[in-house]
Amino acid sequence: MRLSVNIDHVATLRNARGGHFPCPVEAAKLCMATGADGITMHLREDRRHVRDQDVLRVRAEVPTRLNFEMAATAEMVAFALALKPEACCIVPEKRQELTTEGGLDVLRAGPFLAEAISRMAGAGIEVAVFVEADAAQIEACARLGAQAVELHTGAYADALPAARPPLLQRLAAGARAARAAGLHCHAGHGLAHDTVGPIAAMPEMEEVSIGHFLISQSVFVGLPEAIREMRRRINLARGE
Ligand code: PXP
Repeated sequence: MRLSVNIDHVATLRNARGGHFPCPVEAAKLCMATGADGITMHLREDRRHVRDQDVLRVRAEVPTRLNFEMAATAEMVAFALALKPEACCIVPEKRQELTTEGGLDVLRAGPFLAEAISRMAGAGIEVAVFVEADAAQIEACARLGAQAVELHTGAYADALPAARPPLLQRLAAGARAARAAGLHCHAGHGLAHDTVGPIAAMPEMEEVSIGHFLISQSVFVGLPEAIREMRRRINLARGE
């Protein structure tokens, strides 16, 4: 199972002072040297964390499976087609939100989503769509030509432990629906050391994308140790 480390918040820290450090490119190299299988970066319309140059430099300087998170806009599709990441993940994006607030409503999306998926998939990019664990949404992704879904784990990760079992059941059903629809299944949002295990234990799950917790934890133990512990917990959950 792949661990894709989202390095957006290395850039958040850098931008707090407007200087050059910490450098997201150096962070990406360190992640890859310490057991990450890929790097995720979300280039937002407002460029609040990573900027165009950060993404382009990671592409050019870091051998990795780059997962480019993006809104389905003409600007981002053009950027992705030039960037040629191994994978992209289409997310909903609102200017005022603190972070991505939920899955994309694929059933109500306009025709541009289908066009975006087909142009990027046609360019050899593995296209995922970030959705809630809902069979109708997942099946709609397959109909639009996506190759993967990333299931939104935010509600599960934020819930108190006692409230998690039904949310996990929903995610497990979503993972099965993805597999039944012929899609690769990924998961992400809000995951931490204590919540990754049950997600990693789902046999259909092929990738988790984790950012904020790992960058936060690195304040205390360093990025390599935070990643190693995440890897250890993923492997444990998968019996590896
Ligand atoms: N997956 C998607 C689609 C996201 O939008 C985000 C946040 O940018 C993540 C995963 C990672 O979430 P977190 O930073 O909470 O680990």
